[in-house]
Amino acid sequence: MGLLDGRVAVVTGAAQGIGLEIARTFVREGARLVIADVNDEAGAKAQDELGGAGVARYVRCDVRDSAAVRSATEIAEDAFGPLGVFVNNAGMTRDSTMRKMSEQDFDDVVAVHLKGAWNGTRVAADRMREHGAGAIVNISSISGKVGMVGQTNYSAAKAGIVGLTKAAAKEVAFRGVRVNAVQPGLVRTPMTEAMPERIWEQKMADIPMGRAGEPSEIASVVLFLASDLSSYMTGAVLEVTGGRLM
Ligand SMILES: NC(=O)c1ccc[n+]([C@@H]2O[C@H](COP(=O)([O-])OP(=O)(O)OC[C@H]3O[C@@H](n4cnc5c(N)ncnc54)[C@H](O)[C@@H]3O)[C@@H](O)[C@H]2O)c1
Repeated sequence: MGLLDGRVAVVTGAAQGIGLEIARTFVREGARLVIADVNDEAGAKAQDELGGAGVARYVRCDVRDSAAVRSATEIAEDAFGPLGVFVNNAGMTRDSTMRKMSEQDFDDVVAVHLKGAWNGTRVAADRMREHGAGAIVNISSISGKVGMVGQTNYSAAKAGIVGLTKAAAKEVAFRGVRVNAVQPGLVRTPMTEAMPERIWEQKMADIPMGRAGEPSEIASVVLFLASDLSSYMTGAVLEVTGGRLM
């Protein structure tokens, strides 16, 4: 018996990194899902790795576009059945100090993370309230709790996701829909591997557990929030950081 046997999920940004690991974990636990991403090559590879379109179907979906998010969700329901889980994980960074940051870099990061998570939460909640059950998991960041230099755009968006999670949780709880968030710390993925070694070392120095997290260590907490193990939790924000910035 898997924790998500028979459940239908959408995971945004699941073509690589943390999202792909979440998709792997969900499939292992019995879910079928849509990989919603904009990276066609990685998406197709992820679909093959996870067992093909009958188990995990790649759908091109820019989370900034509400119609695309709605369509990816409809594809999931047509292919697999009523939506039970939606993970808002898609993301990217455009770091620089506020003095040098362009308005475009601010707008783009807020659009992908905050508007993207709002699009996903809204569409998923619409479907789930009809079914009377569902779990939405939003990927924030510890950057949204403490604010990071060079990330006024990203920190603002990730803090915004906390407000979105709590407000949405209050709106849909009476319909059996739960909305929770995870704040990862430093996790080794293509996103963080692009950071200079000097920045890695600064971040590592702040981690009581003395190491970066693995994508699987985020995915297992997302699984907990997506499954009935967390049936009495909504509006919660779980830090998964090895103790960093607690
Ligand atoms: N890696 C970390 O240390 C860390 C820490 C805290 C939070 N996070 C968050 O975890 C999530 C996953 O990060 P990751 O490290 O796996 O990053 P990643 O860059 O490895 O993967 C992000 C995925 O999102 C997709 N994506 C980007 N823009 C998109 C869009 N507009 N529509 C749909 N898909 C889009 C990318 O194609 C990619 O597949 C992000 O929300 C990130 O902010 C990561």
